[in-house]
Amino acid sequence: MDVLRIKGGLPLEGRVKAAGAKNSITKLLVASLLSEKKCIFYNVPRIAEVEVTVDLCREIGAEIHWDKEAGIIETQTKELRTSYVPQRFSGSNRIPILMIGALLGRTQEDIIVPTVGGCKIGQRPIDFHIAALEKLGAVIEYRMMKKEGAYFAHAHNGLSGAIIHLPFPSVGATENTILAAARAKGTTVIKNAATEPEIIDLILFLQKMGVIIFVDVDRTIRIQETHHFNEVEHTVITDRIVSASLGMAAISTKGRVFVEGAQHLHMITFLNKLHEIGAGFEVRDNGIEFFYKGPLKGGLHIETDVHPGFMTDWQQPFVVLLTQAYGNSVIHETVYENRFGYAHALKLMGADVELFTQCLGGKECRFASRNFHHSLIVRGPTPLKGREIAIPDLRAGFAYVMAALLAPETSTIGGLQFLDRGYENIVGKLASLGADIVRDRADAHSPSLAIASAS
Ligand code: EPZ
Repeated sequence: MDVLRIKGGLPLEGRVKAAGAKNSITKLLVASLLSEKKCIFYNVPRIAEVEVTVDLCREIGAEIHWDKEAGIIETQTKELRTSYVPQRFSGSNRIPILMIGALLGRTQEDIIVPTVGGCKIGQRPIDFHIAALEKLGAVIEYRMMKKEGAYFAHAHNGLSGAIIHLPFPSVGATENTILAAARAKGTTVIKNAATEPEIIDLILFLQKMGVIIFVDVDRTIRIQETHHFNEVEHTVITDRIVSASLGMAAISTKGRVFVEGAQHLHMITFLNKLHEIGAGFEVRDNGIEFFYKGPLKGGLHIETDVHPGFMTDWQQPFVVLLTQAYGNSVIHETVYENRFGYAHALKLMGADVELFTQCLGGKECRFASRNFHHSLIVRGPTPLKGREIAIPDLRAGFAYVMAALLAPETSTIGGLQFLDRGYENIVGKLASLGADIVRDRADAHSPSLAIASAS
């Protein structure tokens, strides 16, 4: 098991490139299975989530060439080898479930998909996916097999367009429905759809591939039946979570970092909150420079939301930033019910944070009075002390790295498999900005890493 050893207290300074978006390229690769034509993707990040997705698509029959240095993937699925996603992908991430939407219109065989995984930040059901796909004509059932279950899906009577009203603008359910609708008879209308930049990136790709697809102003997406596809070249949008994470690390360490590739359009609400806290940023044509420009002001109220609201994936490192701000701030997490798992370890490092089951904000929230710790108050500034911590999930992982960059003592961080899923070469990038950080084998003497998940 590898660990990170970070000795904090140094300002991050310099220039770094944010890679392509994990939550876009993984879906684009699945979408490429819709057609038998060649697709070429540029700006592909070198991360574990792409490794898993490439492995999954190859299993299905895609011929994929990935030039990791150049960040280019060429893929073509002339015919499916199988529509059975092996159990080894069970629990790996959220991608297997999207195979149903991508393959329903391409095969009459049963599509078999293992249970979905992903970060443990809530129950993460897939009821919206199932209901939408069944409305298009799919038959989906969950069957227990030897050790664990799998979804069996088919559309033997074909897929027919329908009007789908999502109960919540779910990113995954929107993607799955779009993929199935591309080959469904007639027109499909998705109401209350997610409109995250990664969804729009998928829509741009599909339009280039030959799908007739509209995005209306009221979260309505309309997709028309498509049977003739084009070859496509597509550049993946920059990862807005990584861009924001690197920006927050720069500001919290009182540094100045230019994040090449950061896209202003995708970070509007994030930049507004940086403005509120008294941090600096300068938008340029090819990226955004983030910098510390004086004592950070607390007193913020942040309610996470679906796009274009404040993204749930930004709140973990932002809380670390707020531990360095003067004053008390409130965070109300309305997208996931259990996304403050990292707060326990932050407290052990000296942060003054308190969790609440109440909704500390006026936004409509599905977790009201359901006893989930989904609101937090953070009081600052507090010095953070280095310690040994284990990462509970991907985005919390970067929050710990940020906290360790602030602690003058050495911190040892375990659970790097989470970080590797979504942050390309994070050690190299932070070291290039002046961080004292190394990736090391966990020596046998180090006491067991403290479990960071909340009690
Ligand atoms: C995607 O997850 C991202 N993951 C998440 O990023 C991101 O936080 C999330 O969208 C919200 O933006 C990927 O794209 C791989 P949802 P997804 O469906 O699609 C509930 C990261 O670190 N829900 O929009 O799983 C669900 O429980 C990850 O990169 C249902 O109840 O998110 C949650 O409360 C973390 N039933 C809410 O909706 C369903 O059928 C949002 O989920 C589907 C979702």
